[in-house]
This record gives sequence, C-alpha cells and structure tokens, in this order.
Amino acid sequence: MTATGTFARFTADWLPRVDAAIEALLPPRTAAPVRLHEAMHYALFPGGKRLRPMLALLGAVAVGEAPTRVLRAAAALECLHTYSLVHDDLPCMDDDALRRGRPTCHVVYGEALALLAGDALLTLAFEGVADAGPAAVAALAVAAGSRGMVGGQVEDLAAEGDPGAHTEERLRWIHDHKTGALITASLLVGAHAARHPEPVPRAVLDLLTRFGDQLGRAFQIADDCLDLTGTAAELGKNPLADVALGKLTWPALVGLETSLATARGLAAAAAGLAPAIAAAGAAAAGVPPVALDAAAQLLQDVAFQAVERRR
Ligand code: IPE
Ligand code: IPE
Ligand code: MG
Ligand code: MG
Ligand code: MG
Repeated sequence: MTATGTFARFTADWLPRVDAAIEALLPPRTAAPVRLHEAMHYALFPGGKRLRPMLALLGAVAVGEAPTRVLRAAAALECLHTYSLVHDDLPCMDDDALRRGRPTCHVVYGEALALLAGDALLTLAFEGVADAGPAAVAALAVAAGSRGMVGGQVEDLAAEGDPGAHTEERLRWIHDHKTGALITASLLVGAHAARHPEPVPRAVLDLLTRFGDQLGRAFQIADDCLDLTGTAAELGKNPLADVALGKLTWPALVGLETSLATARGLAAAAAGLAPAIAAAGAAAAGVPPVALDAAAQLLQDVAFQAVERRR
C-alpha cells in the first residue's frame, strides 16, 4: 500500500534539523575569507528540495535506526550536491543564471569565487562524513568522483556537442553517473552512518543500491521533462535550458510522453523493492518486519514523488 504525502510530511518534519545540521557544518559567514564563506552560504540557503539529505535519513530508517544519528552525514551530502550545482551552472558548463529561485552563485560572486566555493563545499562534505566511518566515506568518494557524478558531467558535456551520437544507452549512462550515483550514495551513506561502527549487511546494501539506481534514473528523466514543462517560478531555474544547449535528454530522444512513462515505470520498479528493503533492514536490526512498515511507505512515496514533482 502506498501512502501519498508520507515523504512530504517526513521532509517537512526533518527539514529544520537538516538545515540546522548544514548550518553547523558550514564555517560561519564571518570567518575569513568572508566572501568565500558568504558564497557557500548563498549556495546552500535557501535550499532546494533537500532530497539527498532526506535520502540519507531514509537510509538510517531503512536499517531500523533513528534519523538523528545521521544528520551530519546528511548535511555533508547536501554540501556535495550543492557544489555540483554551483559548478554545473558555471558558464563553462550549463551557463545558467537562475538556481533555487535566485541568481546563480557565479552571477553574484563571480566565476572564480563560485568555482572555489564549490571546491570548498566538496571538501567540507568529506569533513562532514568522516565520522560516519570508512564505508560511508568510500561510498561518497566513488559516487562523487570520476567514476560517478564528475564522470557523468563530463559525458553530459561531451554529448552536447555530439548530436550524431545520441542513443538511449549513452543517455542512461550519463544519468546513472551524473545523478544516480549520488542519489544511491545518499541512501548508502545514511545506512552506513546509522550503523557505524557495525557493518551494514550486504543484502541491505544491494537492495538499497537497486532502489537508488532506479530512483536516480526516474529523478533525472523527470528533471529533463521539467525543463520542457515547468516554469521558472516552479523550478527556481530557467526552463528550456537543455533545449537551448542541445543537450542529450530523454524527451529530446523519445518525446515527453514516452519519457514520463519510462520514469513512472522506473519509479514503480523502485517502489516494488521497498518491502524487501524494509524486511532486510528489520532482519539486520533484529526487529520484526512490521517495525519497518513506515520505512517501506517512505521509500515507496519518495519513488512516486521523484516523477510526479513539479519542482
Ligand atoms: C538538480 O537536483 C540537479 C539534478 C541532479 C537533476 P535537484 O532537483 O535535487 O535540485 P535542488 O537540490 O532541489 O535544488
Ligand atoms: C545536473 O544535471 C546534474 C548534476 C550533477 C548537477 P542538470 O544540468 O540537468 O541539472 P539542472 O537541470 O541544471 O539542475
Ligand atoms: Mg548539467
Ligand atoms: Mg544544469
Ligand atoms: Mg536539468
């Protein structure tokens, strides 16, 4: 049984604590160099959907642990994600002027400072995840680097100037790396952080990975579709940006309707794994499966929301 609105309520409940954890991880605005720390705060506040930190909290819930245990790791994920957005918006990449409803970081602070603010957010993320243990650090490092998000961004840019080589296989690879890797890592980091120093059973990690991979694909297809169907007011970013750049996107390749159907199929497949994740998590925690019913419902609903969202 799905319960629409479950994840929205979870997000509303936890948002203040996630934001407080991000604030606590960031150096104060007044620390030298002030302009750098201001740029880092500017990129993070006000935030977007805070999906990745919420997924980290769900990773904890899925192994039967309290989200409070992983707030610092969740904040780290948002720092890493936000660095990727600051760099993604730079003129040398997607050249976007609007993000989270405001002028992009480089528009306000200049390109050099935006680049360096991104660098500082990336390293801050590893400071934040360090005390979650080596498994969490490794999961984040692989997902964020050349075998994950950065690799995906490289191929996203390469495909932009290469319309003759636009295939579904290539696009799936790009989405899995530029977006899916960090979405999956958010769940894994949350589970590792919650259990540290105990290991998370392989069965749980494998199920969370399968869930995250499908969620990531669905989420990025929805992002591609929203570029066509959303407004600047809804998205907090300029629509039709992918069209203007000739990006390889799902709707450019197969059209809007097929894209949405594909995204819904992926979300349903992810949601279908939720009961098995909860059962495996309950076994790992030594509690009856019914104890993690709420976790299953949250995972089902976040999959649904990844596609049905308007922002
Ligand atoms: C935008 O991510 C970049 C993608 C990977 C699609 P989000 O849509 O999660 O952006 P925020 O964090 O809500 O601003
Ligand atoms: C970006 O994908 C993925 C990242 C790693 C930041 P997009 O370029 O489609 O993200 P938006 O649409 O600018 O948020
Ligand atoms: Mg991009
Ligand atoms: Mg972009
Ligand atoms: Mg996009």
